[in-house]
Amino acid sequence: MSSARETPVRRITAPDIRARKQDDTPIVALTAYHAHTARLADDHVDMLLVGDSLGMVLYGFGSTVPVTLEQMITHGRVVASAVKRALVVVDMPFGFYEESPQQAFRNAARVLKETGAGAVKLEGGARMAETIRFLVERGVPVMAHIGLTPQSVNTLGGFFAQGREQDQWPAIEADARAVADAGAFCVVLEAIAEPLAREITAQCPIPTIGIGASPACDGQILVMEDMLGLNPNPPRFVKTYADLKGEIDRAIATYAEEVRTRRFPATEHTYGMKRRK
Ligand code: KIV
Repeated sequence: MSSARETPVRRITAPDIRARKQDDTPIVALTAYHAHTARLADDHVDMLLVGDSLGMVLYGFGSTVPVTLEQMITHGRVVASAVKRALVVVDMPFGFYEESPQQAFRNAARVLKETGAGAVKLEGGARMAETIRFLVERGVPVMAHIGLTPQSVNTLGGFFAQGREQDQWPAIEADARAVADAGAFCVVLEAIAEPLAREITAQCPIPTIGIGASPACDGQILVMEDMLGLNPNPPRFVKTYADLKGEIDRAIATYAEEVRTRRFPATEHTYGMKRRK
């Protein structure tokens, strides 16, 4: 009798995502930093980004600036090992790619070799185009990121929506053109006014992945902890799909109460002696 064999799951690749520009169905992406949440998301999403937002979400930093390459590699490896289907993209952290295309290649190659991820992401438009081309020509798929680029918080002076004044449009449109021409397989548009995001999405030959950039984009990404309700102060563009903060608070309060009143552990959580034969 022949047994039914499991069909191997095919990993989504950067070229698969690039090819979805013409699709009617939007690309679904989320961030992930741990194995268990990555595994849960893998059944539902096309891409998982190991974002440097982990600096703020997991490590409690005030911005993404302090994040190191080692931290990105550690979490990238964990997520890429857990996931079977989604394309795993790892963020290049601040200070590890801006100096030169060679620095970027050296560190991006480490990320791909040591994590098993399928692509890297880096922030910046026209100013990073030469680096994006250098990486792509050498076998590193690049997701670009324009609009609000959180690693530049110290020059921007805060996290502000972009393109809400018409005179800001040409520079942001030029950024989108530059990263597409350089060979990026898709581009994150962060916190960009709806009419500009719509315009860029119509003009840009690669998929746009919006975060706070309206439904006009070819796909959407959110930080998983934000959409699960774990961030006490989520940005305006976040929709919270669950109240995990409340759930966790209730669960821990109940546990504490049951320990204090000796209702936990109960008999079913307790080992007795083995019976003698
Ligand atoms: O670091 C991150 O999580 C990101 C997404 C918000 C796009 O860059």
